[in-house]
Amino acid sequence: MKGLSVIDETDVGWDEHTPPNETVDADGNPFPSDRGFGVADPRAPKRREYDDPDVRRLRDHLRQHNGIHSLEICAPDEVERIARIFHRDGFVVVRDLLNTEQLERFCEGCARVLAQILAIGGTDGRKYTTETGRLPHRYSYGTSSASRQLMHDSTWASMIDLPTTTPILTGIFGSADYRVFGGGGDVCLPGAIEYQHLHADGSEPQVIPEGRAAQAKLLGVDVKEAADSSALDLHTQRLIMELTPPFVTINFLMSDATWENGPIRQIPGSHTSRQSPPTPAEEPEWMRLSTLVGAPAGAGVIRDNRAWHGATPNLSRQIRAMPNIEYVPSWHPAESSRKTMPHEIWETLSPHAQRICRLIKAEPGIWPAGAGEMHPLASGRKALYKKDMEATSD
Ligand SMILES: [Fe+2]
Repeated sequence: MKGLSVIDETDVGWDEHTPPNETVDADGNPFPSDRGFGVADPRAPKRREYDDPDVRRLRDHLRQHNGIHSLEICAPDEVERIARIFHRDGFVVVRDLLNTEQLERFCEGCARVLAQILAIGGTDGRKYTTETGRLPHRYSYGTSSASRQLMHDSTWASMIDLPTTTPILTGIFGSADYRVFGGGGDVCLPGAIEYQHLHADGSEPQVIPEGRAAQAKLLGVDVKEAADSSALDLHTQRLIMELTPPFVTINFLMSDATWENGPIRQIPGSHTSRQSPPTPAEEPEWMRLSTLVGAPAGAGVIRDNRAWHGATPNLSRQIRAMPNIEYVPSWHPAESSRKTMPHEIWETLSPHAQRICRLIKAEPGIWPAGAGEMHPLASGRKALYKKDMEATSD
């Protein structure tokens, strides 16, 4: 997979030998009873072929209609506006988060790690092995890693504390007292013809520990002093939960989001919903078209992970990579953070990045199990993780 690029036109993808909606189990067997995250799209074209009539029809439709009308795109220094839109909609697009050098470095990292994922090849005439429990031609950098994160990768680690993103995160969280949980992201090959189902990432615990109320105060919520937090009125409780997401993710765009190359779709306001998003069969067309077309390369989509979102068809000839860094507020349970960042990577970071990565940093001399090992299949990742664990305990 030499010369792989996540920017240029490519021959990668469009494998007509991978049937639409095919997913695989932990060992790579197709069409398991438990599809995991590979929820089928009943409206997908019947063939994975660039010039297939169904694909052309979908392409024409997307050319005309894809994208949120009048999508707001902020400049990085509009911190107040960014935070306002983020809290209102559950996501916000900010351009120029990366400079040219950072964008190039991240593109190189995305291509390098994708090549590792694709290196295994496919079976029975397929070009690639689909990731366990996902739709074809779609991979998660995070879940394809045997450590579940890419915090061992200096490229990802170098994007944790940027002059553009840190003031924005501070505005969104209400202070600089947040932490890094991990990083990975999402990539799709050309020919990912299916819509990924709408979903939220992670769950909302629906609890208000002391730290969460304190964070809301910093964000301007009038939290009445009460000895017992259950004394908070419902309006206040709701405001606190709306404004203090348990996870905030920055997805960086390696290429312009176009109507054709699989722009992420986001449903405004859904971050506060306690309902489940519609299934692929019942999802209305306006939601399928609610995508971030127009967001340029180097921009970021800053997401409240509770907001409904999903990947969309990539009918182009360009890989669409969207690496990310995931942040959590100070009240996020410390025990859920895993030590996936090697000490020697942590040492290279800025003082602020070191502080916010303190709970994911491994001890000196301990290489985090699975770090650096990529595999599309869960069984492959498990074996690699185990091998690392055994090597560490020797
Ligand atoms: Fe997601």
